[in-house]
Amino acid sequence: MRQSIQKHNPQAEFYLMPYPPIIFATGNSHKVQEVKNLIGEEYHFKTLNEINWSTEIIEDGTSFHQNALIKAKTIYDAGNPIVVSEDSGIVVKALDESPGIFSARWADMHETSLDNNGLLLEQMQGKTDRSAHFVAVVCLIINGEVTFFEGRWEGRLATQVDGTTGFGYDPIFIPNGYDKSTASLGQSIKQKESHRTQAFLKFKTYWESKFQNLK
Ligand code: IMP
Repeated sequence: MRQSIQKHNPQAEFYLMPYPPIIFATGNSHKVQEVKNLIGEEYHFKTLNEINWSTEIIEDGTSFHQNALIKAKTIYDAGNPIVVSEDSGIVVKALDESPGIFSARWADMHETSLDNNGLLLEQMQGKTDRSAHFVAVVCLIINGEVTFFEGRWEGRLATQVDGTTGFGYDPIFIPNGYDKSTASLGQSIKQKESHRTQAFLKFKTYWESKFQNLK
């Protein structure tokens, strides 16, 4: 999906040099390292901490796309010509597509003593359809041109927490084709197949085609 927003400088094609710095609109350096491990160390990402950005970005969109755009555009509007952001979460069919964009704060929103995984398992009690998927939407802005890349990882919810690797909902998500949770399968499966991997591989293909004649 493509759209255009205001350019910082219509003549600024000098930004399009091989491997120009890309501001990754996240404070999570682990996420950045995960992405570099996947697409290559030559990508010159800078986190928000590295550009001394400390203001909270309010993600009040109603979709993964909107929230990814809010994050990227906030940093772009602050004067950074190349910005990438990512918004992700888990979507559960039997819960009317929840938690979705509220995945990170699902338990907080319900004022429960349970954590996100415990709450989701409780909400799934008695449901026969346990299908779920992870979504990742990556938003790239290059000098006013906005491009989105999506990934989707299909699976189902486990009936109990299992495994210790990864983060978030990994201990209760069983990807299609497996019978163990992502947290139990280990990171190599995730690195090969996940929603984030799919989205960032599309980003890499796009980036390389855009910059190929400059290398
Ligand atoms: P954010 O986009 O980093 O804010 O992540 C949103 C939330 O979705 C995270 O806090 C996790 O709860 C969940 N989530 C996103 N991706 C994953 C994943 O790969 N594994 C487990 N949970 C995830």
